[in-house]
Formats: sequence, C-alpha cells, structure tokens
Amino acid sequence: MDLSTEYLGMHLPHPLVVGASPLSDELDGVRRLEDAGAAAIVLRSLFEEQITREQMAEHMNLDSHAESFAEATSYFPSPHAFALGPFQYLEHLRRCKDAVHVPVIASLNGATPGGWIEYARLMQQAGADAIELNLYRIATDPDTAGADIERQAIETVREVKRAVTIPVAVKVSPFYTAFAHVAREMDRAGADALVLFNRFYQPDIDAEALAATRTLLLSDSSELRLRLHWMAILSGRVRASLAVTGGVHRALDVVKATMAGAHVTQMVSALLLRGPGHLRNVLQELTLWMQEHEWASLVGMRGNMSLTRVPDADAYERANYMLMLQGWRD
Ligand SMILES: Cc1cc2nc3c(=O)[nH]c(=O)nc-3n(C[C@H](O)[C@H](O)[C@H](O)COP(=O)(O)O)c2cc1C
Repeated sequence: MDLSTEYLGMHLPHPLVVGASPLSDELDGVRRLEDAGAAAIVLRSLFEEQITREQMAEHMNLDSHAESFAEATSYFPSPHAFALGPFQYLEHLRRCKDAVHVPVIASLNGATPGGWIEYARLMQQAGADAIELNLYRIATDPDTAGADIERQAIETVREVKRAVTIPVAVKVSPFYTAFAHVAREMDRAGADALVLFNRFYQPDIDAEALAATRTLLLSDSSELRLRLHWMAILSGRVRASLAVTGGVHRALDVVKATMAGAHVTQMVSALLLRGPGHLRNVLQELTLWMQEHEWASLVGMRGNMSLTRVPDADAYERANYMLMLQGWRD
C-alpha cells in the first residue's frame, strides 16, 4: 500500500499533516506528534501585527511593552495576546527543528505587503522547511474594492517568494468573488501550494450583555464539503500542490479530499479533541479502507473526482444548485 505523496517539493510517507495550532507550542507536543506519525508539522502563526509592532518599537527606540507606546498603537493587540513573540517564535522554530526529523513548516500570517515579510527570510534562516503564508483579511471598508484586495494578496505572495528560497504554501479563505481566478493568480505569483481554507471565525452576540463574544468552535467533518468543492474545481488546473484544512477528522475525509485533488490533508480540531494518537488511528483506517477498496496508491486516486475528470461535472457547477433545490422531497 503506497500512501506516499509529494507536497511543497517534499516526499512525505503519507498525507497526514498537523495544521497550524497550539498542538506544536511545546517541544514535547511536537515530539508526540512525530511519534504519532505526523508526516509534517505546521507551527502556529506569527502575525503581521506582532512583527509590525516590534519593528515600530525598534524604530522608535521604545520598549514594545511600554504603556505609552501601546496607546499610539491601540489597533495592535497587546503582545500578551500572543503565545510567542517574534524572537521567541524563531527560537521555538529552531528548537523544533532540532527536536524532530519530520518537516517543520513555519506560519506567517498577514494581509498586506510590507516590512513584516522580512520574517519569512528569518524563518528560513531558523531552519523552516517551508513557509505557510496565511492571508486572512476581512474586507470591512466599503471603499476598498475586491480587485484591490486581490492585488494586495497576490503582491504579498510575490514578496514572500522573493524573500526566501524555501517553498511557500498560501493558506486562503474562500470568500473571493472569483476564487478560481485568484487561485490561478497566486499560482502564477509562485505559490508552491494552496491550502484550502481558513475557517471564518464569526463572533456571536450575547444579547443580555450586549457584547460580541469570541468562542472558537472546533470543526466537524461537515466543513469538508466547501473544501472538496473548490479542491475539485482547482485540481489539475494549477501547478501548485493542494492541501485541505478544515473538517478532516476520519480516514474517509482523507480519501474524499484526495479524490478531489489534495496532496495533503491537515488536521487540527480532530487532534485537539482526541489527542495526537488519533493520527495513528486515521492512518490505520486509511490503509484498511484502501485495501478493502483495492486501491494500490493514493497517487492513483488523486483527483479522480475533480471537475475535469468526474463524469458528472454538473455536481460542481450551477446545475447542482438547481437540481438540489428542485429535487427536494420530504
Ligand atoms: C486553537 C486553534 C489555533 C489555531 N491557530 C492557527 C494559527 O496560528 N494559524 C493558522 O493559520 N491557523 C490556525 N488555526 C486554524 C487551523 O490551522 C485549521 O486551519 C482550522 O482549525 C481548520 O482545520 P480543522 O478542521 O482540522 O480544525 C488554529 C485553529 C485552532 C483550533
């Protein structure tokens, strides 16, 4: 049974990658993930806001923790909001690289081109095998057009690619008007992989306290569908490798993602809920499923349900919407 896959120019024994999360905040945790069989580990993100704050503090010769400075940059979260400061992040990355043999991918999280991208180079120097650039932006300004946001996102990809020689994956949100076009432009800008998709964390409203509340709900497998849909549309039409993040909990989720076109599947919620040992279970189930269904390799299965190869391509297009609504019976 050949579960091996290529991702970001790396040959991995199987497609189960641990996504960016607190699971890798401690060295012990990172070792446990490797022991449980993770093919690669993505560290949690270092944010544009953290780096910009640090760089401004240096520039103004101020202590970034000083209260007077905090006032001037009140739109930046306090440094205490983050698990690791920028320098600690690089140190943690170095230690992770020393502690495990599996590839360690650093995560850089921002929205616009700028000086913070310098950290991509520092991550490479600290030993990162690759960078996952997370472009998370909420377009709240009615004066900013979608095309401007897309241009900035693509320019950010170009700048990160210029800064490093290691591979760069780009983790994106699905909320672009024409996602297939944006994905292709990112591919052309040099993205070595596209990671579908960021989860959109909406606040709830506490009607008694009149407050917007922040609660992070972990995913379940139902979130996979959005990823399968777009993966199937992109598969075979971009040069970049493809990764799924969001809703991967069981072996069958990995099978579906691979059939849609994924080279790797990232897991976070499932491992937070069940512990790193769950990776081993999923791998065993995956092997069993493939044996039972007489698949010799994942490569043979990849993309066989993509838009360009599936017999019923309507499933991914407008026709599906009409047929689903018209076909509803109690
Ligand atoms: C507690 C927590 C922290 C996370 N931190 C990050 C992060 O720092 N950077 C990032 O790109 N994604 C982060 N994520 C998102 C995950 O990497 C992943 O994309 C998301 O949880 C969907 O995958 P899942 O369904 O397997 O959980 C975080 C998720 C959780 C639950």
